[in-house]
Amino acid sequence: MRILITGGTGLIGRHLCKALLGKGHQLTVLSRRPDSVAVNCGATVQALVSLDEWRPDRSFDAVINLAGEPIVDAWWSAKRKQVLRDSRIALTEKLVQCIAAAQQKPAVLLSGSAVGYYGNRGDTGVGEWAGAGNDFAADLCRDWEGSALVVEDYGVRVCLLRTGLVLSASGGLLGRMLLPFKSGLGTRLGNGKQWMSWVHIDDYVAMLLRLLEDEQMRGPFNMTAPNPVTNAEFTRTLAQALHRPALLVAPGAVLKLAMGERAALLLEGQRVLPGKLTAASYQFKFPDLAKALNDILSR
Ligand SMILES: NC(=O)c1ccc[n+]([C@@H]2O[C@H](COP(=O)([O-])OP(=O)(O)OC[C@H]3O[C@@H](n4cnc5c(N)ncnc54)[C@H](OP(=O)(O)O)[C@@H]3O)[C@@H](O)[C@H]2O)c1
Repeated sequence: MRILITGGTGLIGRHLCKALLGKGHQLTVLSRRPDSVAVNCGATVQALVSLDEWRPDRSFDAVINLAGEPIVDAWWSAKRKQVLRDSRIALTEKLVQCIAAAQQKPAVLLSGSAVGYYGNRGDTGVGEWAGAGNDFAADLCRDWEGSALVVEDYGVRVCLLRTGLVLSASGGLLGRMLLPFKSGLGTRLGNGKQWMSWVHIDDYVAMLLRLLEDEQMRGPFNMTAPNPVTNAEFTRTLAQALHRPALLVAPGAVLKLAMGERAALLLEGQRVLPGKLTAASYQFKFPDLAKALNDILSR
């Protein structure tokens, strides 16, 4: 297949490109840094610097839309919130315009979202049937999904990737946690009761490939492992995997002071269950956190 990927240079994109190239697909990656595409994604991957370069006579068989400014990195000022929205929603709207204009439409669009779609859910298990929450992250995900769904009007199959915490040693939240945890400074966040819906990067990529290839799959998908854990359990399990103590606690009030509204990403959570992928008989390689972490840390 000829596949266009936005955000292909990112944590998920790099792993995905490797898997897709291994299956013989031809890849084009949209990137603001075209020089980085060959290094991050593979020597044979073409770079596209702007969607304006996508002319209507150029066709892709599939589009995978992962681009987005990192959500946790900077204070959520009004300006930053707009950047977070534009890098996802405005970019997706532009992508939809390109698909609408293309003489030959892609068969499928896999488009980003996150488990933050559901808002703070306490201990309740959350399947794809659940509605959106009502905080900034939930609004962002709902509008991001809405902008992608428009291409269904052009006969394109759409899968929405409600992504949990993707575990990889080479970046993301786990990548950042490794140094303090290895130094014995592993820290529980707040009361530790908030749920963390995680997924091993290998399962994430395998699920993406299933959504790409299986024409029966459409709509929202919880891209998470079947056994989410609380933050207290995550902290304990990561410390055990590294054979280090994790005795510290970051009080919720301190995190709220230091991070403002963003602290909700760390102090609140959702117990998300991958109902549709499980019903479709997807077999998780890493259903349990301890095994997932041991695998990642042994690489
Ligand atoms: N990793 C997770 O645990 C997780 C969890 C939930 C949701 N997600 C979502 O899944 C997507 C992929 O995640 P990831 O971890 O691979 O993200 P990542 O490593 O931060 O990479 C995101 C990519 O998006 C592109 N990008 C960033 N800002 C942009 C902007 N202003 N305009 C256009 N492109 C921009 C960048 O590509 P260039 O620099 O090459 O342009 C970057 O490589 C993201 O949208 C993220 O929000 C990830």
